[in-house]
Amino acid sequence: MFTMKNIIIGFLSIFTLLMIAEACTSIDDKAKANVEIKRQDSLKAIAKKDSIEACTKTIMDPNNPKPMALLMRVQAANADSMHQQLLRGEKLDSNQYPFIHFYLVEPTDPKVLEPQFFENARTFKRAYEEVFTHPTAQKKFYNIMINGCIKCHEKYCSGPLKRIRKFPIGTSPL
Ligand code: HEC
Repeated sequence: MFTMKNIIIGFLSIFTLLMIAEACTSIDDKAKANVEIKRQDSLKAIAKKDSIEACTKTIMDPNNPKPMALLMRVQAANADSMHQQLLRGEKLDSNQYPFIHFYLVEPTDPKVLEPQFFENARTFKRAYEEVFTHPTAQKKFYNIMINGCIKCHEKYCSGPLKRIRKFPIGTSPL
């Protein structure tokens, strides 16, 4: 029964089975890793559109945006939605668009936190509030507010300018 030949065949088949099992799991792992790489790539592509990298020219980690970058994304989404509401002839409601205190949180590049930046932020905040204190001229004051985004971005973060320059309504930004 237990001839040498049988023992060898037995060992060989167990060995082969183990090899097959091993190969299967590693193929599975590789597939999972590929999916993860693809996901990371598409997240990077999304982040690149607004581009933290374009802000600072240094490669920051686009998958771990700093709080200021995140608040800026909300501001841009809000500006987009204000734009659409104004085009539909609707009034903007200050409850729907509370002012976002982006200048109080951590930026990607701490060097931006200089007096000129805070001065720009103050001017922008005044322009923002005026949109809601002039309910009958919101388009005009919205455009002035967007100009505040542009002014600051020309100095501190030129990457998103292309997108922000599409926000004003009508041909002239003022
Ligand atoms: C006082 C200056 C200032 C004002 C005003 C300002 N921004 Fe920014 N913005 C910045 C800075 C600085 C960054 C880079 C933030 C970071 O990476 O932490 C930034 C980043 C952004 C980004 C890129 C976010 C990302 O994904 O990395 C967008 C989009 C943006 N701003 C849109 C706007 C819009 C729209 C407005 C006006 C409604 C606005 N900003 C007003 C200074 C400003």
